[in-house]
Amino acid sequence: MKKQMLVSGGAGFIGSHVTVELIEAGYDVLVADNLSNCDMTCFEGVKQITGRENLPFVQMDFCDAAETERLFTDHRIDAVIHFAGFKAVGESVEEPVKYYRNNLESFLNVIESARLHGCGNILFSSSATVYGEPDQLPVTEEAPRQPATSPYGNTKQMCEDILRDSVKAYSGLRGIALRYFNPVGAHPSARIGELPRGVPNNLVPFITQTAIGKRDCLSIFGNDYPTPDGTCQRDFIDIVDLAKAHVFAIRRMLEDKMEENYEIFNIGTGQPLSVLELVNAFERATGVKLNYRFAPRRPGDVTAIWADPARANRELGWKAERAIEDTLAAAWAWEKHLAGE
Ligand code: UD1
Repeated sequence: MKKQMLVSGGAGFIGSHVTVELIEAGYDVLVADNLSNCDMTCFEGVKQITGRENLPFVQMDFCDAAETERLFTDHRIDAVIHFAGFKAVGESVEEPVKYYRNNLESFLNVIESARLHGCGNILFSSSATVYGEPDQLPVTEEAPRQPATSPYGNTKQMCEDILRDSVKAYSGLRGIALRYFNPVGAHPSARIGELPRGVPNNLVPFITQTAIGKRDCLSIFGNDYPTPDGTCQRDFIDIVDLAKAHVFAIRRMLEDKMEENYEIFNIGTGQPLSVLELVNAFERATGVKLNYRFAPRRPGDVTAIWADPARANRELGWKAERAIEDTLAAAWAWEKHLAGE
């Protein structure tokens, strides 16, 4: 019998790409989402890409303990991949209670129901934000976590701790936290991608919206950083590459290959790219000239961060493969698809 994955928040940007890769790897997937920050566009895209017209979808809120409990009663679930959560850094500073309540409550309910129903495999979507401004680059999983600079970042740290402590306390439970660097791009089919509501906070959606004419001009936040060209450096990881890492992590859990019952992996390319280099790569990849200007630094941004992905390369057997130009061309194809071009 095929193993069944529950993807919470599976209608969103990362969740939809992960759903595609899980199905293509031969797993059954149950997608659950409350659609609070997305619509059914990506879920429909997943069905098209995979040819699964009957892909199951449950509209529900993991903050509701009874609903979560019912989901696990109604379905046999072998592993949970937990994405459901709010993710806007700025909003989390303005509405901390909303963020703590949503991101912690939903994860607590998932862990509680999973263990009560004998589902022992939990994969949590964490973030490189837990490292803050690292002392050493590239950053390894051993680097100390820094005090979070936003409630959003704090919920990532707290959920990691909740998973670590739960795994320690409840026998039969295993957990993996994947720390994503900057996920960008879209599926090469242009059927799924990022769908920010309102003005995008993240760089690549802002770039593609500027290129298509929805925004006048990209502001590059800061060109006086102590980096080679003065703009911030990040580890931009292709969304399909990142999604594939989840398949390797799930396999490791299900095949009993974990060395510890709680493991952490950086998911990045290991290659730094500056904001300006990314803009240039976008222009090269698409042939579109981007209207941009330099603007003051954005509060809370770290100067530079990129991954040491050696542990994921070695233990998961996973490696980022896609060239940034291909990633950006895919993001552009998705933006054009949205515009009906
Ligand atoms: C942010 C979050 C991270 C989260 C990630 C999700 C923090 C500090 N950052 O990462 O936790 O996981 O989003 O996608 O918590 N930029 C511009 N102009 C723009 C937008 C961005 O110059 O219009 C620059 C930023 O200053 C930054 C880089 O582009 O240097 C990347 O920004 P962004 O895409 O927002 O990601 P991060 O802030 O790195």
